[in-house]
This record gives sequence, structure tokens and C-alpha cells, in this order.
Amino acid sequence: MAPTHDVIVLGAGAAGLFCAGLAGQRGKRVALLDHADAPGKKILISGGGRCNFTNLHTAPDRYLSENPHFARSALSRYTPADFIALVERYGIAWHEKTLGQLFCDGSAKQIVAMLLEECRAGKVDLRCGEPVGAVEHGDGLFRVAFGAETVVAPALVIATGGPSIPKMGATGFAYELARKFGLKVVQPRPALVPLTLSGEDILFRELSGVSADVVARSGKAAFREAALFTHRGLSGPAILQVSSYWRPGESVSIDFLPDQPQDWLLAAKRERPRSAMARVLGAALPERLAGRLAESVGVAGELGQTQDKLLRVAEAKLRRWEFTPSGSEGFAKAEVTAGGISTAGLSSRTMEAKAVPGLYAIGEAVDVTGWLGGYNFQWAWASAHAAANAL
Ligand code: FDA
Repeated sequence: MAPTHDVIVLGAGAAGLFCAGLAGQRGKRVALLDHADAPGKKILISGGGRCNFTNLHTAPDRYLSENPHFARSALSRYTPADFIALVERYGIAWHEKTLGQLFCDGSAKQIVAMLLEECRAGKVDLRCGEPVGAVEHGDGLFRVAFGAETVVAPALVIATGGPSIPKMGATGFAYELARKFGLKVVQPRPALVPLTLSGEDILFRELSGVSADVVARSGKAAFREAALFTHRGLSGPAILQVSSYWRPGESVSIDFLPDQPQDWLLAAKRERPRSAMARVLGAALPERLAGRLAESVGVAGELGQTQDKLLRVAEAKLRRWEFTPSGSEGFAKAEVTAGGISTAGLSSRTMEAKAVPGLYAIGEAVDVTGWLGGYNFQWAWASAHAAANAL
């Protein structure tokens, strides 16, 4: 069967839409196929509906991968400034919320509309709402069954993302395809995901809804942001960030006093000897949390009546409150999937499979996972750009 297109892109999410538009504008006849009834669904719900589309502090060390250097090449050739220039060309107003995170002033719909317009400019043949069936490869051509048709091209780009939020149509299809072509897959796991508590730690459930600025740590990773107590465990940006580094069975620690100088409790004892622990902690933390932590460090009565040694122990505990999560809320609640198609089999310059000419993998499907805050979209754009320029 003769080629119907030059390139087939599977998955019309962030990476697939961007790659298809760029390749189309370079003169390629692109088919962009998605089983969902509409493109870019995750973009639409991202950033609370305002799409945190990039991060000004993008750098390779803000990505997790078995090969931490893999993302360097693509990220350096398509930067946040490049995407900002595109966004501005479309007149989309944006702002920096915090920590270099850029959001639309208006709506994530503007980013999807922009990507669709880029596809239109590239005459991309976008088809949604049919299942992708068998994918065959032979005589230098890829044949993809899509609904009742077969689409044929010498290049195939896997851009079907990872399995996080399956109710939105997310699947592990990328991994099935990769394995079929002999590529290895790094065990996928939920990332940027709330952690659950059990046992003694469950007592913190009563704090559901309380949030505080903390430093959360998992291994060597440390994040200074808000943590939020939930009825199942802990969430909030600091916890989502460390969840990507955390492995089952490991502990996580929280510093509840990141802004207080060392020996803060001893100083408080001297300055306010009649105050109770909960009251002193209340100066630095939300009241409910202060009360619960005061109980948990076991200092009853006035600070002035408490031995210095006990106050030092209590402060150390508050600076390193350690717990072992019972698990995470899983792919159902994970913002991204860590792991995925191993970078070992891909070119970091082009995203092409070293052993299968014409096969490419981009976006979240690949074992490159960014921090919270626009890093994952920047990887989607950068990896899509790398592939599109090589197609
Ligand atoms: P993406 O998931 O976007 O697209 C994959 C596409 O493939 C989908 O359209 C899907 O329907 C299709 N597909 C899947 N299986 C298929 C199959 N078997 N056949 C055919 N098609 C198939 N990141 C960030 O940087 N800033 C942010 O603000 C947010 N916010 C955010 C909020 C929420 C709630 C979530 C769940 C995620 C985020 N993210 C984020 C992460 C970000 O959405 C994610 O990293 C990118 O969408 C990944 O882009 P991809 O194109 O790789 O996959």
C-alpha cells in the first residue's frame, strides 16, 4: 500500500499537536490521530484551566530520567523564550504566578486554539474519535489502522503520553508500541501525586484542609512550598514535587519551621516563658496544625517550665517530621507519569529510535519527567520540536 502521508503522529496532546504543526509547516504531509473525541484535553484542564505552559527556570536538572542528561539537547534548542514568543505572536496574554511558572491570563483554551491554528497552517490532517488499531511496519513504511481506514507513512511519532488520569483517555499505549518495536520501557509510576498516610500518621487526617509552607524532603530532593493535609494523607506543591522522587517503603520528611532560626524554641522560652507550645508554634503555623504538632512533640505546660534539652528535641522533631507514606493516590490522581520509553534507545537530538529508523517518541511517553510548574509542557514542546526538525 502506497504512503498516504509523510508522517503519522499518534496522540493529539501537547507534544503531538506541536510536533504535527511544525512538521506540517516544514512541508510534510502529516496525519495526527487521536482516539479521544477532541484534541488537547489535558491542556484544557492544566494549571486550573489557565495552563502553566512553561517555566522560566527550565534546566535539565529539573527533570527526572534514568539518563539525566538526555533532555539537555532538546531543551537547549527549544527554550521557554521560544514558546513565549509563539504565545505572544498569537496575542495570548500571560503572567508569572510564582517560581517562574507562566500561565495564560485568560484560558488554557487559547493554547489549544493556538496549537490547532499551527496545525491548520501546516495543513495537518487531524482525525479524532476513532480507536487506533494495529500498527505494522515493513518495507520502510508504518501502517496504522484508524477506525475503518489504514494510514501509511515512512515515519511514526509516538506522542500518546502516559497513563496518568485514565478517565481522560490516558493509556499505556505508548509503552505497548515501544515494546513492539524492541524499545525498553522504564517502569512507569505515578508522579506529582498526593501521598497517603496510615498507622499513627493517620492522626493528621483531622487536619484535612490545613496547609503550611514547609520544606519537604525525599532522599536528596528538597522542595520549599506549601503542603496540604488531606483526608487521605498529604498533598500540595511541596508534596507533589517530592512524590516524583519517592519510592514505596521510603520515608519523607517535613520541616515545619523553615523560616525560624536555629534554637527558636529556646529563644521563645526566654522571651515568652509563660506561653504554651501550641501558642508559640501558632506564631509560625496555622492554629490547628500548631495545636496538633504541640501534642505530637509531647511538650505540655509552659515553655518556661520545660527543660532546654526537651525543647531542643522538640525543635529537631519539628524540623524533621518523618513519615513513611502508605502509598500514593496512584495514576488516577497523578499529574504525570514518571518512567516510560527508555531514553537509551532514542537519539537525544532527534527523538528517533536508534534501532528503528523513522520511529520517534516525544512528550510524556518518554522517560523524562519534569517538576511541577510548567516543566512538563516545556518538555512536550522541546521534544516535539526536536523530532519535527528531524522528520
Ligand atoms: P498528552 O497526555 O497531553 O496527550 C496524549 C494524547 O494521546 C491524548 O490526546 C490522548 O487522547 C492520546 N492517546 C492516548 N492513548 C491513545 C491511544 N491508545 N490511541 C490514540 N490516542 C491516544 N504540565 C505542565 O507543564 N503545566 C501544567 O499546568 C500542567 N497541569 C496539569 C494538570 C493536570 C490535571 C494533569 C493531569 C496534567 C498536567 N500537566 C501540566 C502535565 C501535562 O498535561 C502533560 O505533561 C502533557 O500533557 C504531556 O503531553 P503529551 O502530549 O506527551 O501527552
